[in-house]
Order: sequence, then C-alpha cells, then structure tokens
Amino acid sequence: MRLFTLLFVFILPNSIVSAQNIAIIPQPVSLKTLKGNFRLTAQTTIGYSQSAAKPMADLLATRLNAPTGYRLKVQRQGLIQLSLNTRPDTNLGKEGYTLDVGVQNIRIRANEAAGLFYGVQTLLQLFPVGIESQTPVKKVAWNAPAVRITDYPRFAWRGFMLDVSRHFFSKEDVKRYIDRMARYKYNVFHWHLTDDNGWRVEIKSLPNLTRTGACRVQRYGRWGEFEAPRPGEPATDCGFYTQDDIREVLAYAAERYITVLPEIDVPGHSMAAIAAYPELCCTKDTSIKVNPGSVFAEWYGNGQFKMLIDNSLNPADENVYAFLDKVFTELAALFPHPYIHVGGDECYHGYWENDPGCKALMQKEGLKNSHELQSYFLKRVEKILKSKGKKMIGWDEILEGGLAPEAAVMSWRGLEGGIEAAKLGHEVVMSPNDYVYIDLLQGDPIVEPDQTSYKKVRLKKTYEFEPVPEGIDPKYILGGQANLWSEKVPTIRQAEYMSFPRAWATADIYWSPKSSKNWDGFIRRMERHMERADAAGCNYARSAFDAIVTASVKDGKLFAEVATEINGLDAYYTLNETLPDSFTSHYTQPVEIPEGPVTLKVITYRDGKPVGKMIALKREELLKRVGK
Ligand code: ACM
Repeated sequence: MRLFTLLFVFILPNSIVSAQNIAIIPQPVSLKTLKGNFRLTAQTTIGYSQSAAKPMADLLATRLNAPTGYRLKVQRQGLIQLSLNTRPDTNLGKEGYTLDVGVQNIRIRANEAAGLFYGVQTLLQLFPVGIESQTPVKKVAWNAPAVRITDYPRFAWRGFMLDVSRHFFSKEDVKRYIDRMARYKYNVFHWHLTDDNGWRVEIKSLPNLTRTGACRVQRYGRWGEFEAPRPGEPATDCGFYTQDDIREVLAYAAERYITVLPEIDVPGHSMAAIAAYPELCCTKDTSIKVNPGSVFAEWYGNGQFKMLIDNSLNPADENVYAFLDKVFTELAALFPHPYIHVGGDECYHGYWENDPGCKALMQKEGLKNSHELQSYFLKRVEKILKSKGKKMIGWDEILEGGLAPEAAVMSWRGLEGGIEAAKLGHEVVMSPNDYVYIDLLQGDPIVEPDQTSYKKVRLKKTYEFEPVPEGIDPKYILGGQANLWSEKVPTIRQAEYMSFPRAWATADIYWSPKSSKNWDGFIRRMERHMERADAAGCNYARSAFDAIVTASVKDGKLFAEVATEINGLDAYYTLNETLPDSFTSHYTQPVEIPEGPVTLKVITYRDGKPVGKMIALKREELLKRVGK
C-alpha cells in the first residue's frame, strides 16, 4: 500500500497533461476541454479510413511506439481513427483538421492528408512530455486530456530558411532540422544552397561548381575574423549535396508536408560560383577563391557597401545566361516547388559600373543606372525560370530598378519591400530581419555564444511580428518565414539553439489566428515545449529568462536599469564581487553604479528559483551601453 502511494505520488506530476496544462504550439483556432482522459495502452489500435490516411497512421504509430515501448497495431478500424472527410469541411481548407479526444477513442478528420498530419502533431502534444523521447520511458501514464479541437492555418506559406553555404550541414542534419520544424506545422523549407562561402548543390552539367565551389580553406575560431586564403593553400573544407541527396531530403520533407524552396543567390553573393568559373564575373579574376569567412566587404550603414573582391555575375555576358539556364534546368527538374528563389540581395555594382561590356549594354538597352541593369538581369532570369515552368521569388532588392513582371518578393530589410510589392499586385513572403532573423542575438551578448551580431532580436520582438501591414490586401501576403543564416552556426545543435524558442513564436504567428496572440500565454506554452525539447534531445535557448540590462547617466551618475521580457520574474544583484541570489539586493529601481572597479552581477528568479543566467557587467561595459 505504501509502495502504491509512493508510486502514485512520483508518477503523477510528469505523466498527466491536465486540461489547464494543455500547451499546443502553434495555438489551435479553437480548443474545448472536456471531462476525462484518453489512456493509451499497448492494446490501443490506430485506424485509417482510407488508404491515403495510412501513412499518417503509420507515422503516429512510430512516434508513439518509440517512447512507450508498445507495438501499436495499425489497421482499418482503430481506437484512434484517422479519416479523410468524404464531404469536405469548407472551414478546414487543405491543411485544417478536427481532433476529438474522448475517454474511449480519438478521431482525427481532415479534408486532405496534410490536415491529418497536422492533427497527429497536435495529438502528440497532448500526451505527456515523455512522448518526445526516442527510447522507452517507464512508469508514465500515457494520458491525453479529452478535447475538441478545430484548427487550420492563417497563412499558406509558413517557412523556415537554413543557410548551408556559410556552414555546411549534412543531409542527416538537414532532415533532423526539417523534422523539428514539421512538428510545429511549418510547410516551406527555404534552402539557401549557394553563397560566397560554398556552392552546395550538384549541377551535373557544371561539375566545377561543386569540385571547386564547394571547397574552401579550413579555418577555426570566429567567423569574420578568419584569415583570407593564402596563395596555393589547399581548399579542404568541402561539402555539397548530390542530386540523390537532394531527392532524399525532398522525399523526407514531403512525408512531413513540407515543400522545399531552393535558392541560388545571384547576381551577387556568387563568389563560390566565380571561384569555379571566373569568366562569369566582370573582372574574370582567376585568383578568386571560395571565401572561408574572412572579411571582403566594407559596410557603411544605410545599405551602402563595397565588395573588395568581385562576387557578382556579369549581367552583360551571354555566357552567364547560358550558365544560369543550365543551373535552373537541373534545379527545376529536381525541385517540385513552383518557385525558385534567385536571391538578388546585396549585389555590389561597382565592378559593373567600370566594365565596358556593362556600359555598352546599358546604353543599348537604355538602362539609366546599375539598379536598372540588375533589373534587366533579373527579368532575363525570370524568363529562363518561366521556360522551365517555374516562378521567380527573390529578396526585396529585386524591386530596385523595376520588378520582373511576375516575381514574388521576400521582404527582409523590413516590411517596406513587401508593402511595395503587394501594392504592385505581387505575391509577398514576409521575413523582416528586425523580427524573424533567428541568426541574430536573442539575449545579452555577454552571455550569448555569438557576441558580435549586428543586431538583437529578442523573443518578445519576434512574437510581436505581424505579417500583414495595415492597409495591405492580405491576399498578397502568402505568409512568412524564420530565417537562419549560418555564419555563426557551425553545428545543428547551434541551429536549434538559435531557432527555439523564436521559431515557436513564428509558428504561432504564421498558423494561429491573430486574435489569439497573448504573450503570457505563449510563454506558458513555451515552457512546456522546452520540457518537450529536453525529452526530444533538441537544443533551445533560455535567453528570454535573462535580465535585460541597460544603462544611463543622470546628474553625472551612472545607473543600471534591469528589465525582463517574461513577466513575473525577480532580479537580484550584487556590486561587491559576490554571486547574486535571492538573498542579495532585490532590484526595484535603477541602481547607481559607484565609481571604481565595480561589476554589476544580476540574476533572475521566479518563485524563489533561479531561472536566468547570471549577467556580469563591469562599469566600463555599462558606460558603453549608455544611450543604447
Ligand atoms: C539577406 O539577409 N541578405 C537576404
């Protein structure tokens, strides 16, 4: 009896998702809690009403078997039943579903298989966190609370971008990342396959693109501070995907209802292609190597910059269009996505402006400036894509000099490019760096792995993002993305750290109704998903729990101000070199920092327990923060 009581006490807390504890990301459109729980046992069966629903039944069985150790039967009729509606439910669209969890059975219904996939993701989030484990978890009551959920997405395009040029990720890592995102109902994987630092996709008719363009000299340490390639130094840091690898990733993504948008970044960001085929740029400089992360540009602010090495394709050379025709022929055959992303961002025009061929072309075509020359280039690229049955999408710079007739715009320098494109009647994907560039710092640089990022995008800022600007017809806004550039992301663990929890916030933004937005509610759900990520072996950042420390000077005195993103946290601090805890000074108002070799040390607590990392800032560091 006593043993029973003990077990009961120990099992209960982590084995039951109570109705109040339900934490689904993205937040469903409608969720009604009912009485009781469904108890999953070894005898539970999973049913599929049509053969098109069977893959989802199999997928659910796989996901449930790993943590429970059961071998659940998949058959036509089951206690958990997955069905496609014979008469479409118009509310649900192509991706919506209804999920009814009762005490006796569970029903997931959808118009299309994608909806069943999303219903399965939601159902899994109703089970205890152990359900995320890859290996059997003992002594868990696998209960899901009874609910009725009706759910469908706000946006058709729910994207995430991974840059595999700055750092290469193996196909296994890419698949793992795709799987993480699929669980949060993302449906577009934007694969940034080429850039100055590596060409990562096999093009059979242009073998040098990967033979030379996928390799750079090996460097260790901090990106942006690396030494440039030395003359004759072998390029041994290599990585690319064969076309078979790509097909494998595409199939894996398709099983998770994710389409894959390939990006070939032209005419700028092309140093890797130029290293392989130097005749493609104006300077035809045969000494150009794939950049290993050394500085080759000067940035002047306000979007002004100079590339010290030529990394732009020559828009006046017919051979460049023949080259692109070959690339896009193979790419179009490989990727089923209706769009191909052609980049178009941050292209330096300085080498064009001095090139006799470019000048002659501008005169012949009546192009007034280099933006119009870039626009000429992109219009030709759009024609190439169209001839392969593809539509063009590019970064918002493709608006400059005149947008190609049918191009879609991915707005990254803010919302303005997207607004302009939508007003012109073009389709738009919103991914403004201020909100959804998840490579940017998410906390205090003093405690974050990357201390040198040009900007900060805290979780709260991401959560505040609204993709449809006031006065814009929402029909042009396809949706949005979370973009992960990988200069400072050398491993997939770090990719996860940068992605979560911000990609949970964007999952809500792109899927859930605008009216359901609620910061405190999101944080509550986020914390449950951190537990799930722990069980799944997925990395994430707890930076949102850290203190935000700013500084100001008043009457010649230095003050530190402490705030938190998450409500209900307490901050404690010291100025005497000891470690802060809940017995040291409780922050209630700006702290005067006395003269001398003083360090402010701050830590956040909640309900008497430390929740944030300690932030230690010397007086000099605080002075640097004044006015920022
Ligand atoms: C970009 O971030 N250069 C699109």
